[in-house]
Amino acid sequence: MKKDTLLSVSELKTYFFMESGAVPSVHGVSFEVKQGETVAIVGESGCGKSVTSLSIMGLVSSPGKIVGGDIRFHGQDLTTISEKEYRKLRGNDLSMIFQEPLTSLNPLFTIGSQLDEVILLHQQVTKEEARQKGIEMLKKVGIPRAEQVYRSYPHQLSGGMRQRVMIAMALACEPKLLIADEPTTALDVTIQAQILQLMRKLVKDNNTAIMLITHDLGVVAEMADTVIVMYAGQVVEQADVFTLFAAPAHPYTQGLLASTPKIQTIEEELQSIEGTVPTQETMPKGCRFFPRCPHASEQCVQNQPSLLKIGGGQLVRCWLFDAKEAASG
Ligand SMILES: Nc1ncnc2c1ncn2[C@@H]1O[C@H](COP(=O)(O)OP(=O)(O)O)[C@@H](O)[C@H]1O
Ligand code: SF4
Ligand SMILES: [Mg+2]
Repeated sequence: MKKDTLLSVSELKTYFFMESGAVPSVHGVSFEVKQGETVAIVGESGCGKSVTSLSIMGLVSSPGKIVGGDIRFHGQDLTTISEKEYRKLRGNDLSMIFQEPLTSLNPLFTIGSQLDEVILLHQQVTKEEARQKGIEMLKKVGIPRAEQVYRSYPHQLSGGMRQRVMIAMALACEPKLLIADEPTTALDVTIQAQILQLMRKLVKDNNTAIMLITHDLGVVAEMADTVIVMYAGQVVEQADVFTLFAAPAHPYTQGLLASTPKIQTIEEELQSIEGTVPTQETMPKGCRFFPRCPHASEQCVQNQPSLLKIGGGQLVRCWLFDAKEAASG
């Protein structure tokens, strides 16, 4: 399998311009996703995971705006392409399963016709074959009475059912990069396992890369090659999945892991560490995590640490790891 870089996000800054001022929801985020790689992004609510995904998809809308950095996909900077070019990418090489899928299905067309359209666009098949594949895909995401659902309109389905249809469509695109933003949170455990298995198959068969946003560290352990931990709009740690679980370096990561005692249990929810993610009003000037950190020192209160390499491919944003270590890493 090729391991070329597919997506490269560099110093991404996405702000929301509110009446009270600019909110830097994504504040200098950098990371890469290689072909066929699954990168998990974890962090509490409000850390900027969804805004990072929407930025990559070109779907940040007013009052939000990308104000800095670049997003390279196949080497092309997506922050400079037209909406028309973006539309061509989305649902082709770039596909996303949304946290809130309600808006993404066209209410005027049946599920079947929307699914057929995607399949015909991406696979060399006849109309009849597309129909069969569509129904097959609906069955694979755990939809009962798939033939009937295939003929239904979106409003005739429950929210959970629509979510599964969206997942079926995203997978049918056979994208180069699938961004899945908490794709299975609302679904029951059996369906969730089925969908994760489908994603794994996509990686195996098509060398699809996945950016998986999840609260579920069990899913991370099962799916991810690389893990990115976000806190208050920044990356605070990045490591391969084994290193992250065996030797988490950032106190925030350590807190996340400690609050999830049984990482094997897929239902286990990430519980928050004492305190909350800072808002724009309470944003510390030094390390953004210091008010909640058991290791905070005066230096942490005064100055922001930068993201440093500490060895292996592990990156950490914390003063406990000084520049000397970074140089030898
Ligand atoms: N539509 C919006 N309007 C204003 N602020 C927003 C909007 N969407 C997100 N934000 C801000 O961006 C921050 C990060 O949000 P988000 O990326 O959705 O977090 P999460 O990590 O939970 O996915 C939020 O705390 C919020 O302040
Ligand atoms: S820089 Fe200081 S406050 Fe921030 S995580 Fe590291 S030890 Fe804690
Ligand atoms: Mg989110």
